Amino acid sequence: MIEKSIPAAGYCRLVLEAPYIAGRARPGQFALFYLPGEHRYHLPRPFSFFKTDPDRGRFSVFFQIKGLGTDLLAKAEPGEKWKLLGPLGSGFPPLNTGALLVAGGIGIAPLAFLAASSAVPRTLVYGARTAVDLSCPAKELDLPGLTVVETTDDGSRGRKGTATEQMAAFLPACSAVFACGPRPMLAAVAASCREASVEVWLSLEEQMACGIGACVCCAVETSFGFKRVCHDGPVFSAGEVFFR
Ligand code: FES
Repeated sequence: MIEKSIPAAGYCRLVLEAPYIAGRARPGQFALFYLPGEHRYHLPRPFSFFKTDPDRGRFSVFFQIKGLGTDLLAKAEPGEKWKLLGPLGSGFPPLNTGALLVAGGIGIAPLAFLAASSAVPRTLVYGARTAVDLSCPAKELDLPGLTVVETTDDGSRGRKGTATEQMAAFLPACSAVFACGPRPMLAAVAASCREASVEVWLSLEEQMACGIGACVCCAVETSFGFKRVCHDGPVFSAGEVFFR
């Protein structure tokens, strides 16, 4: 790890040097972080890619500090070495003009990377419970062709309401929707898009153990049977995922 910052209370961003991963990572994919030292027998932690710099062999992750793994990472100092595995999983398809990105909370991490992957006109609806949870640094979303609509449940920043409510206004004119966030939000996004007959891609956040498709603990029910989020996803077409 070569750089650490705390952009908002309870949120951490790390920059890591790993040329192999940085050169291959695509938006929506993730890397596994193996805990060091006395914690090495714990399960690895998955983190979506937030940004990459292939020329310098670097990538960054952005996460909420919650639990042992994220706490250890947030306390790590530049220079510490972590064992990593990646890039893993499927990524989002490329953005087309008129794409609508919908991020809930820390679901912004893969969507910020996706937003930066293209310069076509596109809109990001970025929602969270309160202003402090809109934790992504504004400069990371200051991208050519990107319109950002912020929304908070309590109205403490941006529009008042949920990301799902705000996205409704953009649905009729959008080419496709790309979303990441809490499961109830994704279920609501999928339902709205189904009603509007809009294609939608979801990045699912599930608890993982092995992270490489071996243990099946991250399985979700789809129209093609159970699929492993770590191996077959985390990005799925909403039409195939069952939300129960
Ligand atoms: Fe083991 Fe997905 S975490 S199969």
